[in-house]
Amino acid sequence: MTEYAHLPQSAAVPPSDYVIIGGTGDLSLRKIFPALFLRYAAGQVTDDFRLFVVSRQAVSRDEFSAKLAPHCKAGMEGMKDGDATLAQFMELVEFVCVDISEAGCMAGLAEHLLPQADPGRPIIFYLSITPSLFSSTCQRIAEAGLALPQSRLVVEKPLGKDHASAQAINDELLSIFEEKQIYRIDHYLGKETVQNLMALRFANVIFEALWNNSYIDHVQITVAETVGVGNRAAYYDQYGAIRDMLQNHLLQLLCLVAMEPPARFNADQVRNEKLRVLQAIRHIQPDDIRLGQYQDYAYEVGNPSTTETYVALKLLIDNWRWAGVPFYVRTGKKLGIRASEIIVTFKDRPHDIFAKNGITDTKNEIPNRLIIRVQPHEGLRLMLTSKEPGPGGMRLFPSELNLSFGETFNQRLPEAYERLLMDIARGNQTLFMRLDEVLAAWELIDPLVAMAAKSVPVLYRSGTMGPDDALLSRDDRKWLDPKDETDEPG
Ligand code: BG6
Repeated sequence: MTEYAHLPQSAAVPPSDYVIIGGTGDLSLRKIFPALFLRYAAGQVTDDFRLFVVSRQAVSRDEFSAKLAPHCKAGMEGMKDGDATLAQFMELVEFVCVDISEAGCMAGLAEHLLPQADPGRPIIFYLSITPSLFSSTCQRIAEAGLALPQSRLVVEKPLGKDHASAQAINDELLSIFEEKQIYRIDHYLGKETVQNLMALRFANVIFEALWNNSYIDHVQITVAETVGVGNRAAYYDQYGAIRDMLQNHLLQLLCLVAMEPPARFNADQVRNEKLRVLQAIRHIQPDDIRLGQYQDYAYEVGNPSTTETYVALKLLIDNWRWAGVPFYVRTGKKLGIRASEIIVTFKDRPHDIFAKNGITDTKNEIPNRLIIRVQPHEGLRLMLTSKEPGPGGMRLFPSELNLSFGETFNQRLPEAYERLLMDIARGNQTLFMRLDEVLAAWELIDPLVAMAAKSVPVLYRSGTMGPDDALLSRDDRKWLDPKDETDEPG
C-alpha cells in the first residue's frame, strides 16, 4: 500500500474564539463540538483557542462533557489517550448564559471577548439556533460591540423557505455583517469526496477532455438515506425533500459536476462558476419530476400529509458543454441503502470494431462509467471493457478500476464539519454558499414547490429505492442503484 504519511496533514489555523449560540443543542453536540475536538486532537485547534457554549439555560462543564463524549467516541477510535485528550479539550470551553430576547444579553459574552479582541484573531459566531432568531441575535451581537471586522457569522440551512424569505433573512444578516463575513454552511461541500470531485476534474487532464456532451450520455446523482424523519417531523413536514435536500446538497453536487473550470481555486471564482450552472438549468416541467412518500410517513408525523420524502428530477443545462445531456437526480428517506453517488455514463464508441466478426461476444459490454462514491466507502470506480483471458475469440467483459480512499490513504477521512470549521477560521469561503447562489437555487426550486403542492406523492415501501423508474424508462434508461458495500472494508 502506498504510504501517504509524507502528505501535510493540516494547515495552520489562527487562534480563534468560537461562539456557538445554541451551544447545548443537537447540532452543536452531534457535529460542531465533535469536529472541534477532532481538530484539537489533530493539533489544528490549539490551546490558544477559546470555545464558548452560549445557551439560554445554564449548563455545567461536567454535564456538557457527559453529553458530548458519546458523540466523540467514533472519532476517538485508534486515538492514543482519547479520554484524556477530550478532558484537555474541555478546558478550552467556557459557558455563558444568554437569553436572546433580553436587551443587553450579550454583555457578559462581550466581557470575555473584547479584552482579547485583535484584528488577527477571528471571533466566529455560529448560529446553531432557529432561523427566526437570526435577526435578533445579530442585533444583540452588534449592540454588544461584537460585530467587529474580524467577526464572522456562520449560518445553516434552512435559510428561508423560498426565494422571498431567503432574501429577507439574508437582508437582516447583511444589515450587520458584510457578505465576506458570512459563512453559509452546506455540509456536503465539506465532504472529502465532494472536494475530490474538483481535484478529479481540474487536477487531471483525462476526464476534463471528455467532460462534455460529445462524450457523456447522462449523469445520475443519488443521495439515498435509510433513515426516516425521526424526531424532526415538525420541521420536515414543512420542508420536504425538495427544500431539505434538493435545494442545497443535490444542486451543489450538480454544480460541481457541471461547472466550467475556474481560473483559480478561490472562493469567488469557484462560486462564480457554480452560479453560472444554476442560472443555466432549464425551468423544470411537471413531467420531469417524480415525488414519493414512504408508507409510514403520515403515521410518523401524526397527520395525513402530502409532503414528499423522495424527489427525482430530470434536469437539463442549457449551455454549450451540456446541451442535450440529462442530469437525473434523486434523493429520498427510508430507501434500501444509505449511499450518495454520482455516476457519469459515457456515450458508446462511434464505431465497434469487434461486432460482426463472428468470434466476438459483446453481450456483456457496458458503457464506460465513472462512479464517484461520496459516502460511505468513499472512492472512485471507472468501469471499462476488457478482454476475457484465453484463446478462441474476443470475449469482452466489464471490469473496473477501483480507488477506495479509505484503503488508499489508510487513515480516517475527516468529517465535513472539521474541514468547514477550520476554513471559517482561515477566512476561506470557497466551500460556503454565496448569497447569489442561494437565491439562484431558490429561483429554480420555487416553481417545483408550487408543483409539489398541487400533487400527491406516490407511496413507496420503506427499504425499496422509491417509486418506479418512469422518469428514466421513457428515455430508455434506468436508475443505477448504488452498490451495497456494507460488508466490504471501508
Ligand atoms: C441534512 C438534512 O442537511 O442532511 C437531513 O436536513 C439529512 O434531512 C442530512 O438527513 C443528510 O446528511 P448526511 O451527511 O448524513 O448525508
